[in-house]
Amino acid sequence: MHTPETPRRLLVAGRWVTDAESMPVIDKYTGETIAAVPVASAETVDRAVAAACEAFPVYSRTPAHERSRILEKAASLLESNSEEIAALICREVGKPWKYSIGEVSRSIETIRFSAEEAKRIHGETVPMDASATGEGRMGFYLRSPVGVVAAITPFNFPLNLVAHKVGPALAAGNAVVLKPASTTPLTALRLGEIIQEAGLPPGVLNIVAGPGGTVGDRLVSDPRVAKVSFTGSPPVGEAIIRKAGLKKVTLELGNNSGTIIEPDANLDEAVARCVMSAFANSGQVCISLQRLYLHRDITEEFTKRFLDATARLKVGNPLDRDCDIGPMIGEAEAIRAESWISEAAAGGARVLIGGRRDGAVLYPTVLTDIRPDMKVSCGEVFAPLVSLCPYDRFEDAVRMVDESAYGLQAGIYTKDIRKALYAVDQINAGGIMINDTSIFRVDHMPYGGNKKSGLGREGVRFAIEEMTNIKMVVIKP
Ligand code: SIN
Repeated sequence: MHTPETPRRLLVAGRWVTDAESMPVIDKYTGETIAAVPVASAETVDRAVAAACEAFPVYSRTPAHERSRILEKAASLLESNSEEIAALICREVGKPWKYSIGEVSRSIETIRFSAEEAKRIHGETVPMDASATGEGRMGFYLRSPVGVVAAITPFNFPLNLVAHKVGPALAAGNAVVLKPASTTPLTALRLGEIIQEAGLPPGVLNIVAGPGGTVGDRLVSDPRVAKVSFTGSPPVGEAIIRKAGLKKVTLELGNNSGTIIEPDANLDEAVARCVMSAFANSGQVCISLQRLYLHRDITEEFTKRFLDATARLKVGNPLDRDCDIGPMIGEAEAIRAESWISEAAAGGARVLIGGRRDGAVLYPTVLTDIRPDMKVSCGEVFAPLVSLCPYDRFEDAVRMVDESAYGLQAGIYTKDIRKALYAVDQINAGGIMINDTSIFRVDHMPYGGNKKSGLGREGVRFAIEEMTNIKMVVIKP
Protein backbone atom coordinates (compact mmCIF):
# COMPACT_ATOMS: atom_id res chain seq x y z
CA MET A 1 0.00 0.00 0.00
CA HIS A 2 1.41 3.35 -1.02
CA THR A 3 0.91 6.40 1.09
CA PRO A 4 1.49 9.93 -0.09
CA GLU A 5 4.60 9.93 2.11
CA THR A 6 6.29 7.18 0.04
CA PRO A 7 9.61 8.64 -1.27
CA ARG A 8 9.27 9.65 -4.88
CA ARG A 9 11.63 9.32 -7.81
CA LEU A 10 11.56 10.19 -11.48
CA LEU A 11 11.12 7.49 -14.10
CA VAL A 12 13.89 7.32 -16.70
CA ALA A 13 14.63 4.30 -18.89
CA GLY A 14 12.51 2.03 -16.67
CA ARG A 15 14.39 2.99 -13.48
CA TRP A 16 13.34 5.22 -10.60
CA VAL A 17 16.04 7.88 -10.30
CA THR A 18 16.73 10.90 -8.17
CA ASP A 19 18.45 14.23 -8.80
CA ALA A 20 20.41 16.84 -6.83
CA GLU A 21 17.51 19.21 -6.22
CA SER A 22 14.04 18.44 -4.99
CA MET A 23 10.73 20.26 -4.56
CA PRO A 24 8.11 19.82 -1.87
CA VAL A 25 4.58 18.69 -2.64
CA ILE A 26 2.09 20.35 -0.33
CA ASP A 27 -1.27 19.13 0.97
CA LYS A 28 -3.30 22.05 -0.37
CA TYR A 29 -5.74 22.01 2.55
CA THR A 30 -3.48 21.50 5.58
CA GLY A 31 -0.36 23.15 4.12
CA GLU A 32 1.69 20.11 5.24
CA THR A 33 4.57 18.87 3.06
CA ILE A 34 3.54 15.38 1.96
CA ALA A 35 6.48 14.43 -0.25
CA ALA A 36 9.64 15.67 -1.88
CA VAL A 37 10.01 15.04 -5.59
CA PRO A 38 13.32 15.40 -7.47
CA VAL A 39 13.58 18.30 -9.90
CA ALA A 40 14.90 16.92 -13.18
CA SER A 41 18.24 18.43 -14.18
CA ALA A 42 18.93 19.21 -17.85
CA GLU A 43 20.93 15.95 -18.06
CA THR A 44 18.01 13.95 -16.64
CA VAL A 45 15.60 15.46 -19.17
CA ASP A 46 18.07 14.64 -21.97
CA ARG A 47 18.43 11.06 -20.68
CA ALA A 48 14.65 10.67 -20.54
CA VAL A 49 14.34 11.76 -24.18
CA ALA A 50 17.25 9.47 -25.15
CA ALA A 51 15.56 6.54 -23.36
CA ALA A 52 12.30 7.24 -25.22
CA CYS A 53 14.16 7.41 -28.57
CA GLU A 54 15.85 4.10 -27.83
CA ALA A 55 12.64 2.36 -26.77
CA PHE A 56 10.56 3.66 -29.68
CA PRO A 57 11.74 1.41 -32.57
CA VAL A 58 10.88 -1.81 -30.72
CA TYR A 59 7.72 -0.55 -28.98
CA SER A 60 6.30 0.96 -32.17
CA ARG A 61 6.40 -2.56 -33.68
CA THR A 62 4.77 -4.22 -30.67
CA PRO A 63 1.52 -5.75 -31.98
CA ALA A 64 -1.69 -3.83 -31.30
CA HIS A 65 -3.15 -6.64 -29.17
CA GLU A 66 -0.09 -6.50 -26.93
CA ARG A 67 -0.23 -2.70 -26.49
CA SER A 68 -3.93 -3.06 -25.77
CA ARG A 69 -3.29 -5.78 -23.17
CA ILE A 70 -0.80 -3.58 -21.28
CA LEU A 71 -3.27 -0.68 -21.18
CA GLU A 72 -6.13 -2.95 -20.11
CA LYS A 73 -3.97 -4.28 -17.26
CA ALA A 74 -3.08 -0.70 -16.25
CA ALA A 75 -6.80 0.19 -16.14
CA SER A 76 -7.50 -2.82 -13.87
CA LEU A 77 -4.63 -1.91 -11.55
CA LEU A 78 -5.91 1.65 -11.37
CA GLU A 79 -9.34 0.28 -10.48
CA SER A 80 -8.00 -1.85 -7.65
CA ASN A 81 -6.14 1.16 -6.20
CA SER A 82 -8.94 3.70 -6.74
CA GLU A 83 -9.41 4.89 -3.18
CA GLU A 84 -5.70 5.31 -2.46
CA ILE A 85 -5.24 7.36 -5.64
CA ALA A 86 -8.36 9.46 -5.01
CA ALA A 87 -6.97 10.37 -1.58
CA LEU A 88 -3.71 11.42 -3.23
CA ILE A 89 -5.63 13.69 -5.64
CA CYS A 90 -7.61 15.16 -2.71
CA ARG A 91 -4.44 16.07 -0.93
CA GLU A 92 -2.15 17.29 -3.69
CA VAL A 93 -4.86 19.24 -5.58
CA GLY A 94 -7.24 20.13 -2.72
CA LYS A 95 -10.02 18.55 -4.83
CA PRO A 96 -13.03 17.31 -2.82
CA TRP A 97 -13.34 13.55 -2.44
CA LYS A 98 -16.43 13.14 -4.63
CA TYR A 99 -14.67 14.81 -7.56
CA SER A 100 -11.35 13.01 -6.88
CA ILE A 101 -12.95 9.55 -6.88
CA GLY A 102 -14.92 10.64 -9.96
CA GLU A 103 -11.66 11.58 -11.66
CA VAL A 104 -10.22 8.13 -10.92
CA SER A 105 -13.30 6.46 -12.47
CA ARG A 106 -12.99 8.61 -15.56
CA SER A 107 -9.28 7.83 -15.84
CA ILE A 108 -9.97 4.10 -15.73
CA GLU A 109 -12.34 4.63 -18.64
CA THR A 110 -9.83 6.80 -20.51
CA ILE A 111 -7.18 4.08 -20.24
CA ARG A 112 -9.76 1.41 -21.24
CA PHE A 113 -10.79 3.46 -24.27
CA SER A 114 -7.08 3.67 -25.14
CA ALA A 115 -6.77 -0.13 -24.84
CA GLU A 116 -9.75 -0.54 -27.19
CA GLU A 117 -8.62 2.09 -29.69
CA ALA A 118 -5.15 0.50 -29.89
CA LYS A 119 -6.84 -2.28 -31.87
CA ARG A 120 -8.51 -0.05 -34.44
CA ILE A 121 -5.86 2.36 -35.66
CA HIS A 122 -6.15 2.14 -39.42
CA GLY A 123 -6.21 4.14 -42.62
CA GLU A 124 -8.44 3.76 -45.66
CA THR A 125 -8.29 3.21 -49.37
CA VAL A 126 -8.12 6.22 -51.68
CA PRO A 127 -9.95 6.08 -55.04
CA MET A 128 -6.90 6.85 -57.19
CA ASP A 129 -8.86 7.00 -60.44
CA ALA A 130 -10.68 10.13 -59.26
CA SER A 131 -7.79 11.82 -61.06
CA ALA A 132 -6.91 10.86 -64.62
CA THR A 133 -3.28 10.77 -63.50
CA GLY A 134 -4.13 8.19 -60.85
CA GLU A 135 -5.87 5.79 -63.24
CA GLY A 136 -4.66 2.22 -62.99
CA ARG A 137 -3.08 2.69 -59.55
CA MET A 138 -4.23 1.49 -56.19
CA GLY A 139 -3.86 3.72 -53.10
CA PHE A 140 -4.33 3.43 -49.37
CA TYR A 141 -2.89 5.06 -46.30
CA LEU A 142 -1.63 3.77 -42.98
CA ARG A 143 -1.22 5.54 -39.67
CA SER A 144 2.17 5.25 -38.00
CA PRO A 145 3.22 6.49 -34.55
CA VAL A 146 5.04 9.85 -34.60
CA GLY A 147 7.93 8.85 -32.31
CA VAL A 148 8.60 10.58 -28.98
CA VAL A 149 5.67 12.49 -27.49
CA ALA A 150 6.31 15.16 -24.84
CA ALA A 151 3.22 15.34 -22.60
CA ILE A 152 2.93 18.41 -20.37
CA THR A 153 -0.02 18.26 -18.01
CA PRO A 154 -1.82 20.64 -15.61
CA PHE A 155 -2.65 20.48 -11.90
CA ASN A 156 -6.46 20.44 -12.12
CA PHE A 157 -6.90 16.81 -13.29
CA PRO A 158 -3.54 15.26 -12.33
CA LEU A 159 -4.68 11.76 -13.31
CA ASN A 160 -7.23 12.02 -16.11
CA LEU A 161 -5.46 14.69 -18.13
CA VAL A 162 -2.28 12.59 -17.87
CA ALA A 163 -4.29 9.54 -18.96
CA HIS A 164 -5.60 11.56 -21.93
CA LYS A 165 -2.05 12.01 -23.24
CA VAL A 166 -0.25 8.87 -22.09
CA GLY A 167 -3.10 6.42 -22.95
CA PRO A 168 -3.49 7.42 -26.62
CA ALA A 169 0.29 7.84 -27.09
CA LEU A 170 0.97 4.30 -25.85
CA ALA A 171 -2.03 2.90 -27.74
CA ALA A 172 -0.56 4.26 -30.97
CA GLY A 173 2.93 2.87 -30.33
CA ASN A 174 4.70 6.09 -29.33
CA ALA A 175 7.25 6.58 -26.56
CA VAL A 176 6.51 9.31 -24.02
CA VAL A 177 8.28 11.79 -21.79
CA LEU A 178 5.75 13.14 -19.32
CA LYS A 179 6.14 16.33 -17.30
CA PRO A 180 3.31 16.66 -14.77
CA ALA A 181 2.48 19.97 -13.07
CA SER A 182 5.02 20.88 -10.38
CA THR A 183 2.29 21.39 -7.79
CA THR A 184 0.75 17.93 -8.36
CA PRO A 185 3.34 15.40 -9.57
CA LEU A 186 2.50 12.56 -7.15
CA THR A 187 -0.56 11.19 -8.93
CA ALA A 188 1.31 11.06 -12.26
CA LEU A 189 4.24 9.24 -10.64
CA ARG A 190 1.80 6.73 -9.12
CA LEU A 191 0.24 6.19 -12.56
CA GLY A 192 3.77 5.63 -13.88
CA GLU A 193 4.27 2.85 -11.31
CA ILE A 194 1.00 1.26 -12.34
CA ILE A 195 1.81 1.36 -16.05
CA GLN A 196 5.25 -0.17 -15.39
CA GLU A 197 3.61 -2.89 -13.31
CA ALA A 198 1.22 -3.54 -16.19
CA GLY A 199 4.22 -4.60 -18.28
CA LEU A 200 5.24 -1.57 -20.34
CA PRO A 201 8.84 -2.08 -21.53
CA PRO A 202 11.52 0.18 -19.96
CA GLY A 203 12.01 3.58 -21.58
CA VAL A 204 8.61 3.72 -23.31
CA LEU A 205 7.21 5.96 -20.56
CA ASN A 206 9.53 8.39 -18.77
CA ILE A 207 8.46 10.93 -16.16
CA VAL A 208 10.42 14.07 -15.30
CA ALA A 209 9.24 16.74 -12.88
CA GLY A 210 10.17 20.38 -12.46
CA PRO A 211 9.30 23.90 -13.57
CA GLY A 212 7.84 24.55 -17.00
CA GLY A 213 10.44 27.26 -17.65
CA THR A 214 13.33 24.80 -17.42
CA VAL A 215 12.18 21.17 -17.69
CA GLY A 216 9.23 21.95 -19.97
CA ASP A 217 11.26 24.25 -22.23
CA ARG A 218 14.01 21.71 -22.65
CA LEU A 219 11.55 19.04 -23.66
CA VAL A 220 9.64 21.26 -26.06
CA SER A 221 12.76 22.48 -27.84
CA ASP A 222 14.45 19.05 -28.08
CA PRO A 223 14.66 18.14 -31.79
CA ARG A 224 14.30 14.43 -30.94
CA VAL A 225 10.74 15.09 -29.72
CA ALA A 226 8.23 14.65 -32.55
CA LYS A 227 5.08 15.87 -30.85
CA VAL A 228 4.15 18.12 -27.93
CA SER A 229 0.80 17.68 -26.23
CA PHE A 230 0.13 20.44 -23.70
CA THR A 231 -2.78 21.37 -21.45
CA GLY A 232 -2.52 24.67 -19.58
CA SER A 233 -2.72 28.41 -20.01
CA PRO A 234 -2.86 30.33 -23.34
CA PRO A 235 0.40 32.29 -22.73
CA VAL A 236 2.33 29.05 -22.12
CA GLY A 237 0.63 27.47 -25.14
CA GLU A 238 1.73 30.36 -27.34
CA ALA A 239 5.30 30.14 -25.97
CA ILE A 240 5.32 26.41 -26.79
CA ILE A 241 4.33 27.11 -30.39
CA ARG A 242 7.25 29.55 -30.69
CA LYS A 243 9.78 27.13 -29.18
CA ALA A 244 8.63 23.82 -30.65
CA GLY A 245 9.85 24.40 -34.21
CA LEU A 246 8.73 21.77 -36.71
CA LYS A 247 6.83 19.47 -34.37
CA LYS A 248 3.24 18.42 -34.22
CA VAL A 249 1.58 20.33 -31.36
CA THR A 250 -1.75 19.87 -29.59
CA LEU A 251 -2.78 22.62 -27.18
CA GLU A 252 -5.74 22.43 -24.82
CA LEU A 253 -5.96 25.91 -23.29
CA GLY A 254 -8.45 28.02 -21.38
CA ASN A 255 -12.01 29.25 -21.71
CA ASN A 256 -14.52 31.65 -20.13
CA SER A 257 -17.42 29.30 -20.75
CA GLY A 258 -20.95 30.57 -21.15
CA THR A 259 -24.30 28.78 -20.77
CA ILE A 260 -27.73 30.11 -21.73
CA ILE A 261 -30.95 29.34 -19.81
CA GLU A 262 -34.08 29.80 -21.91
CA PRO A 263 -37.48 30.25 -20.17
CA ASP A 264 -38.63 26.74 -21.20
CA ALA A 265 -35.72 25.09 -19.36
CA ASN A 266 -36.36 22.63 -16.53
CA LEU A 267 -35.21 24.94 -13.73
CA ASP A 268 -34.78 22.24 -11.06
CA GLU A 269 -32.37 20.41 -13.29
CA ALA A 270 -30.64 23.52 -14.63
CA VAL A 271 -30.04 25.14 -11.25
CA ALA A 272 -28.46 22.04 -9.70
CA ARG A 273 -26.29 21.44 -12.73
CA CYS A 274 -25.20 25.09 -13.01
CA VAL A 275 -24.14 25.21 -9.35
CA MET A 276 -22.00 22.11 -9.83
CA SER A 277 -20.62 23.46 -13.13
CA ALA A 278 -19.56 26.76 -11.57
CA PHE A 279 -17.99 25.46 -8.37
CA ALA A 280 -16.69 21.88 -8.86
CA ASN A 281 -12.96 21.74 -8.10
CA SER A 282 -13.23 25.41 -7.05
CA GLY A 283 -13.92 26.37 -10.66
CA GLN A 284 -10.49 25.14 -11.74
CA VAL A 285 -11.78 23.31 -14.80
CA CYS A 286 -11.23 24.59 -18.36
CA ILE A 287 -14.95 24.18 -19.12
CA SER A 288 -16.17 25.49 -15.77
CA LEU A 289 -19.29 27.66 -15.97
CA GLN A 290 -18.20 31.29 -15.75
CA ARG A 291 -20.88 33.32 -17.58
CA LEU A 292 -24.51 32.36 -17.05
CA TYR A 293 -27.01 34.07 -19.40
CA LEU A 294 -30.55 34.03 -17.94
CA HIS A 295 -33.68 34.98 -19.87
CA ARG A 296 -35.27 37.98 -18.13
CA ASP A 297 -38.52 36.01 -17.45
CA ILE A 298 -36.77 33.47 -15.25
CA THR A 299 -33.91 35.58 -13.88
CA GLU A 300 -35.49 36.29 -10.50
CA GLU A 301 -36.61 32.73 -9.84
CA PHE A 302 -33.39 31.17 -11.14
CA THR A 303 -31.20 33.60 -9.14
CA LYS A 304 -33.08 32.88 -5.91
CA ARG A 305 -32.74 29.12 -6.32
CA PHE A 306 -29.13 29.39 -7.48
CA LEU A 307 -28.09 31.47 -4.45
CA ASP A 308 -29.95 29.13 -2.05
CA ALA A 309 -28.13 26.12 -3.49
CA THR A 310 -24.78 27.96 -3.43
CA ALA A 311 -25.27 28.88 0.23
CA ARG A 312 -25.74 25.18 1.06
CA LEU A 313 -22.35 24.14 -0.39
CA LYS A 314 -20.03 22.72 2.24
CA VAL A 315 -16.62 24.35 2.29
CA GLY A 316 -13.92 22.40 4.13
CA ASN A 317 -11.47 19.51 4.09
CA PRO A 318 -11.43 17.82 0.65
CA LEU A 319 -10.98 14.42 2.31
CA ASP A 320 -14.42 14.71 3.96
CA ARG A 321 -16.88 12.69 1.92
CA ASP A 322 -19.48 15.50 1.94
CA CYS A 323 -17.10 18.37 1.11
CA ASP A 324 -18.17 20.47 -1.91
CA ILE A 325 -15.48 23.15 -2.00
CA GLY A 326 -11.83 22.82 -1.06
CA PRO A 327 -8.94 25.26 -1.41
CA MET A 328 -7.70 26.54 -4.72
CA ILE A 329 -4.30 25.30 -5.88
CA GLY A 330 -2.51 28.04 -3.91
CA GLU A 331 -3.13 31.24 -2.00
CA ALA A 332 -1.65 33.36 -4.81
CA GLU A 333 -4.34 32.10 -7.20
CA ALA A 334 -7.09 32.81 -4.64
CA ILE A 335 -5.69 36.33 -4.13
CA ARG A 336 -5.65 36.85 -7.89
CA ALA A 337 -9.31 35.79 -8.20
CA GLU A 338 -10.24 37.97 -5.21
CA SER A 339 -8.60 40.97 -6.90
CA TRP A 340 -10.66 40.33 -10.06
CA ILE A 341 -13.81 40.38 -7.89
CA SER A 342 -12.77 43.68 -6.23
CA GLU A 343 -11.99 45.21 -9.61
CA ALA A 344 -15.43 44.17 -10.90
CA ALA A 345 -17.14 45.52 -7.76
CA ALA A 346 -15.29 48.82 -8.13
CA GLY A 347 -16.62 48.96 -11.71
CA GLY A 348 -20.25 48.51 -10.61
CA ALA A 349 -20.69 44.73 -10.32
CA ARG A 350 -22.68 43.41 -7.35
CA VAL A 351 -21.49 40.46 -5.25
CA LEU A 352 -24.64 38.39 -4.54
CA ILE A 353 -22.86 35.80 -2.39
CA GLY A 354 -19.27 34.93 -1.45
CA GLY A 355 -16.39 37.20 -2.36
CA ARG A 356 -14.70 36.12 0.86
CA ARG A 357 -11.28 34.48 1.01
CA ASP A 358 -9.58 32.50 3.76
CA GLY A 359 -6.02 31.59 2.70
CA ALA A 360 -6.30 29.51 -0.47
CA VAL A 361 -10.05 29.02 -0.01
CA LEU A 362 -12.23 31.38 -2.03
CA TYR A 363 -15.87 31.04 -0.98
CA PRO A 364 -18.25 30.31 -3.89
CA THR A 365 -18.95 33.71 -5.40
CA VAL A 366 -21.81 34.93 -7.58
CA LEU A 367 -21.72 38.31 -9.33
CA THR A 368 -24.23 40.28 -11.35
CA ASP A 369 -24.28 43.63 -13.17
CA ILE A 370 -20.97 42.84 -14.82
CA ARG A 371 -19.72 44.29 -18.11
CA PRO A 372 -18.20 42.17 -20.91
CA ASP A 373 -14.87 44.03 -20.65
CA MET A 374 -14.37 43.11 -16.98
CA LYS A 375 -11.74 40.42 -16.30
CA VAL A 376 -14.38 38.29 -14.55
CA SER A 377 -16.15 38.09 -17.91
CA CYS A 378 -13.54 38.27 -20.67
CA GLY A 379 -10.64 36.58 -18.80
CA GLU A 380 -10.55 32.96 -17.69
CA VAL A 381 -11.35 33.14 -13.95
CA PHE A 382 -10.37 29.53 -13.08
CA ALA A 383 -11.87 30.07 -9.61
CA PRO A 384 -15.22 29.43 -7.85
CA LEU A 385 -16.77 32.50 -9.42
CA VAL A 386 -19.74 32.85 -11.78
CA SER A 387 -21.60 35.86 -13.16
CA LEU A 388 -25.35 36.01 -13.80
CA CYS A 389 -26.27 38.06 -16.88
CA PRO A 390 -29.95 38.66 -17.76
CA TYR A 391 -30.99 38.96 -21.43
CA ASP A 392 -34.18 39.73 -23.35
CA ARG A 393 -33.49 38.41 -26.88
CA PHE A 394 -32.23 34.89 -27.40
CA GLU A 395 -30.05 36.00 -30.34
CA ASP A 396 -28.26 38.50 -28.06
CA ALA A 397 -27.48 35.76 -25.52
CA VAL A 398 -25.98 33.59 -28.26
CA ARG A 399 -23.93 36.54 -29.52
CA MET A 400 -22.64 37.28 -26.00
CA VAL A 401 -21.59 33.66 -25.45
CA ASP A 402 -19.72 33.76 -28.74
CA GLU A 403 -18.12 37.18 -28.17
CA SER A 404 -15.07 35.72 -26.51
CA ALA A 405 -11.42 35.33 -27.32
CA TYR A 406 -11.91 31.67 -26.36
CA GLY A 407 -13.92 28.85 -27.90
CA LEU A 408 -13.80 25.58 -25.96
CA GLN A 409 -17.34 24.59 -24.92
CA ALA A 410 -20.70 26.30 -24.32
CA GLY A 411 -24.13 25.19 -23.14
CA ILE A 412 -27.79 26.00 -23.76
CA TYR A 413 -30.91 24.85 -21.96
CA THR A 414 -33.99 24.91 -24.22
CA LYS A 415 -36.70 22.58 -25.46
CA ASP A 416 -36.80 24.39 -28.82
CA ILE A 417 -34.67 22.49 -31.32
CA ARG A 418 -34.54 25.52 -33.66
CA LYS A 419 -32.96 27.63 -30.95
CA ALA A 420 -30.55 24.85 -30.03
CA LEU A 421 -29.44 24.49 -33.64
CA TYR A 422 -29.15 28.28 -34.02
CA ALA A 423 -26.71 28.29 -31.09
CA VAL A 424 -24.78 25.36 -32.61
CA ASP A 425 -24.51 27.31 -35.87
CA GLN A 426 -23.52 30.66 -34.36
CA ILE A 427 -21.10 29.78 -31.56
CA ASN A 428 -17.51 29.19 -32.62
CA ALA A 429 -16.44 26.56 -30.09
CA GLY A 430 -15.17 22.99 -29.95
CA GLY A 431 -18.37 21.71 -28.32
CA ILE A 432 -21.95 22.89 -27.71
CA MET A 433 -23.96 21.08 -25.03
CA ILE A 434 -27.74 21.15 -25.44
CA ASN A 435 -29.66 20.90 -22.16
CA ASP A 436 -26.43 20.86 -20.22
CA THR A 437 -23.74 23.36 -19.32
CA SER A 438 -20.29 23.87 -20.83
CA ILE A 439 -18.83 21.42 -18.29
CA PHE A 440 -20.16 18.21 -19.83
CA ARG A 441 -17.45 15.85 -21.02
CA VAL A 442 -17.07 12.11 -21.46
CA ASP A 443 -13.65 10.86 -22.34
CA HIS A 444 -14.13 9.42 -25.81
CA MET A 445 -15.75 12.49 -27.36
CA PRO A 446 -13.63 14.97 -29.32
CA TYR A 447 -12.51 17.67 -26.91
CA GLY A 448 -10.61 20.84 -27.64
CA GLY A 449 -11.07 24.44 -28.56
CA ASN A 450 -10.99 27.08 -31.25
CA LYS A 451 -9.53 30.60 -31.09
CA LYS A 452 -7.41 31.11 -27.91
CA SER A 453 -8.69 27.80 -26.50
CA GLY A 454 -6.16 25.78 -28.43
CA LEU A 455 -5.21 23.60 -31.34
CA GLY A 456 -6.24 20.05 -32.18
CA ARG A 457 -8.49 17.68 -30.28
CA GLU A 458 -8.19 15.15 -27.47
CA GLY A 459 -10.65 12.37 -26.60
CA VAL A 460 -8.88 9.07 -27.10
CA ARG A 461 -9.51 8.37 -30.80
CA PHE A 462 -8.93 12.00 -31.73
CA ALA A 463 -5.71 12.22 -29.69
CA ILE A 464 -4.50 9.09 -31.50
CA GLU A 465 -5.11 10.84 -34.83
CA GLU A 466 -2.94 13.72 -33.61
CA MET A 467 -0.25 11.34 -32.39
CA THR A 468 0.10 9.42 -35.65
CA ASN A 469 1.33 10.35 -39.12
CA ILE A 470 -0.44 9.38 -42.31
CA LYS A 471 1.69 7.29 -44.66
CA MET A 472 0.27 7.10 -48.18
CA VAL A 473 1.00 4.01 -50.27
CA VAL A 474 0.40 4.04 -54.04
CA ILE A 475 0.82 0.85 -56.06
CA LYS A 476 1.40 0.90 -59.77
CA PRO A 477 0.78 -2.69 -60.79
C1 SIN B 1 -10.03 20.49 -18.46
O1 SIN B 1 -9.99 21.21 -17.46
O2 SIN B 1 -9.65 20.85 -19.58
C2 SIN B 1 -10.58 19.10 -18.40
C3 SIN B 1 -12.00 19.06 -18.12
C4 SIN B 1 -12.51 17.65 -18.02
O3 SIN B 1 -11.84 16.71 -18.48
O4 SIN B 1 -13.60 17.44 -17.49
